Amino acid sequence: MILPIVAYGDPMLKKAAEITPEDYPDLKQLVADMFETMQFAKGVGLAAPQIGKSIRMFLVDASPFAEDDKEGKHQHLRDFKKVFINPEIQEEWGDEWNFEEGCLSIPGIREDVWRNEKIRIKYLDENFNLHEDQFDDISARIIQHEYDHIEGVLFTDHLNPLKRRLLKKRLLDISRGIVDVKYKMRFPLKR
Ligand code: NI
Repeated sequence: MILPIVAYGDPMLKKAAEITPEDYPDLKQLVADMFETMQFAKGVGLAAPQIGKSIRMFLVDASPFAEDDKEGKHQHLRDFKKVFINPEIQEEWGDEWNFEEGCLSIPGIREDVWRNEKIRIKYLDENFNLHEDQFDDISARIIQHEYDHIEGVLFTDHLNPLKRRLLKKRLLDISRGIVDVKYKMRFPLKR
């Protein structure tokens, strides 16, 4: 089932999410619904707060990067499709690099964000098996962006004050539902 995605301005997106309990009701179904929602919206990541659930869980599917890939640089991303439950980033290192990020909760806006190149993360998969893995480049980038969501942080929070001021009106319009978007959303200030 495709779920509505919570838009910028909703308090849900500003709140640190709670640990996901192992007996969370219908978790498998929720994971399936989130994948369906993300794919329909053509996203590469989706965090539970974005569909209105304040739990520490997100999923990623970087295969669109492999599909658009003319230089053959991102073919390894074809299989980067994963669920992260109760993740903890253990370490972030490497050069900071700049990449244009977008967010399904903030349609139509893309801005450069600086992040470290590499991360080490501990997480549970959808069967609650524990993993500890290292990621870099675009995979790390997507995880860092989604991890921010479960901490109540949006990519716009990483922008400098001038950039944020320039975006203010467009962000307010998104909260009001004044935005062209092809997927189902829930707007906090829509009348
Ligand atoms: Ni996002």
